[in-house]
This record gives sequence, C-alpha cells and structure tokens, in this order.
Amino acid sequence: MRILVKRDNLFHHLSEPVLKTGHLNQLKQFKQHGHCTCYDHSIAVAKTALFLSMILPFRFKQKQLVRGALLHDYFLYDWHNVKLEKLHGFHHPRIACENAKRDFDLTPVEENIIKRHMFPLTPIPPRYKESVLVTVSDKICATKEVFSALGRKIRNGRPVAYMAHVFAFLIAFLPWN
Ligand SMILES: [Fe+2]
Ligand SMILES: [Fe+2]
Repeated sequence: MRILVKRDNLFHHLSEPVLKTGHLNQLKQFKQHGHCTCYDHSIAVAKTALFLSMILPFRFKQKQLVRGALLHDYFLYDWHNVKLEKLHGFHHPRIACENAKRDFDLTPVEENIIKRHMFPLTPIPPRYKESVLVTVSDKICATKEVFSALGRKIRNGRPVAYMAHVFAFLIAFLPWN
C-alpha cells in the first residue's frame, strides 16, 4: 500500500535524530507486553500515530508527534522486576518525561504527549491533538501486543479459544505499524 511506504519514509526521516541520540536503544532489553520489547512497542506506537495523522482530516505537528511517541515509554527500567510494578501504570509517564527532558530538548507538545499518554488511567487528559493521537495509538498497540501473545498460547481448538485466536490474528496483522 502506497500510504504505508510514504508513512515509513516519513517515519525514517523524522525518527532518525531521536533514535541516534539518547538511550532509546536501552529499551530493547525490556519486555513490554507479551514478547514485544519496549523499543518495538515505542516504534509501533510512533508509526501508528503517524499513520493516523496521515489519514485524519486535521493538521498535525508530525515531527513532534513522532518524537513524543518514541519517548512516551522512556522510563528505562524493566517494569516487571521493580517494586513499582503495581503502580507502574501511574508513575511511568512522569519518570519517562524526566528521562526524556534530561536527554532531549522537549517542546510543550512532546512533554504533554509523554506525561498524558496513560489517560484515562491517569486523570488529567491530553492537551494537544498530537497527545490524543499517541494516547489512542498506545492503546491500539498495547491491545494488539497482548492479544498477539494470547493468540500464540491458544492452541486447543475449543470454539471460544478458537475465536480468541482468530481475533488475536486479525489484530496482530492490521497493517498500520
Ligand atoms: Fe506507557
Ligand atoms: Fe506505551
């Protein structure tokens, strides 16, 4: 599909400076959902948000959208192995934002993307349309990653399990990241 080629070229152009600086590569060590690493999850969220920005009838600041999305989970620890685990969902946007501010010059839009991406789990809503897009993309990708992992586990042929497997397969192969 031509729009995906266009999206990937634009993504490559916009993401390169962020991927080359800071510690984003550290996210490759940490699992996010299922078999997906935090790094793969961040790339998927950024690509999904960029894809949505290309098909929606609004103007988006795409450079800030991609930078904020890439850094939205820049918390740099394995959340499965720390005492924070239960509260990770509430605290990690603030930690990610502090890390990102240390390593990058953030715009207000990028900062808001990172701080508010867990809405509605965290109560303050996103302020900019770019933040809304990343919040939505994060949910889409997390759902896809969780169902994809579940789908791999379900192999026993019962109808409900079969339906869950089909659903996971469909979500896992949506072409937007
Ligand atoms: Fe997050
Ligand atoms: Fe995320």
